[in-house]
Amino acid sequence: MSHANAHDLQLDPAGHLKHLLTVEGLSRELLTEVLDQAEGFLGVAQQAVKKVPLCRGKVVANLFFETSTRTRTTFELAAKRLSADVLNLNIAASATTKGETLLDTLRNLEAMQVDMFVVRHAASGAAHFIASQAAPHVSVINAGDGRHAHPTQGMLDMFTIRRHKGAFENLRIAIVGDILHSRVARSQIAALNTLGTGEIRVIGPRTLMPAQVESLGVRVFDDLREGVRDADVVIMLRLQRERMSVALLPSEHEYFQLYGLTEERLSTARPDAIVMHPGPINRGVEMDTQVADGPRSVILEQVSNGIAVRMAVIAMCIGTQNLRGQSAVGGLDD
Ligand code: CP
Repeated sequence: MSHANAHDLQLDPAGHLKHLLTVEGLSRELLTEVLDQAEGFLGVAQQAVKKVPLCRGKVVANLFFETSTRTRTTFELAAKRLSADVLNLNIAASATTKGETLLDTLRNLEAMQVDMFVVRHAASGAAHFIASQAAPHVSVINAGDGRHAHPTQGMLDMFTIRRHKGAFENLRIAIVGDILHSRVARSQIAALNTLGTGEIRVIGPRTLMPAQVESLGVRVFDDLREGVRDADVVIMLRLQRERMSVALLPSEHEYFQLYGLTEERLSTARPDAIVMHPGPINRGVEMDTQVADGPRSVILEQVSNGIAVRMAVIAMCIGTQNLRGQSAVGGLDD
């Protein structure tokens, strides 16, 4: 599946967000608008009634062809907090297993007046393909496609960084692990570059680095202590075993010996550095339990922030008549 024109599809003729398929190609102003809108939505979680009516009457369908814990549930909560109706298609129990094509599934859901598809798929380009085939009024959000992109994860990570560290210009950010197979790393690097980050580092074995990784605008390290030295933010990535067609690592034990984050290895980072991980974590492979649950870890905060960021993206795509011209939350309580 081609995704060469993904960014051409993403904006409507007025320049507003229509689909979110990739962070690449989106302007700094638009990414900042997502972060600012999400800031407004954070407060909804503290209300007695955790709802605003921005997407009342809209229907959001979650189509997860690949497993997920965080992304699927936080999309569901985000849509419900915007007062949308939510369909969670159980792919394993759907007519897909009887040979129905993806397009036929889409057409049937469109016949139920769905306004948005949230799509996770193992094939890179799947969300773009669906966006190119969907009815004109339907928006598509990429919830992770193969090793290509995971834009809402990238944006919730930007949101978490901005809340802790402020402006991106003076930050040194270290991303550690399996860069080669990581759609999350691709989306993070694209967003960090667009937001003007001071320095972006990637750290890991050469076998887990994409070819010409430097062309992404990053500095490459193969030594963990050197790579995290003076970092403001350390982002750990999961080893994507399911995407490794050949043995790229001797063993998980040896990987941990070289690239697992421990308190001792973190000591070269800035004293106020935060530690992030998109999840799911493999404790004892990417990081020690002491670090994962330690005072510098913001891993569970990333999950909470994901609801606000996904509310912002959904509202910007399908709640726009209600969203524009007013703050995200003010005066909108049910
Ligand atoms: N971070 C992330 O995408 O997690 P899930 O696979 O659980 O959705």
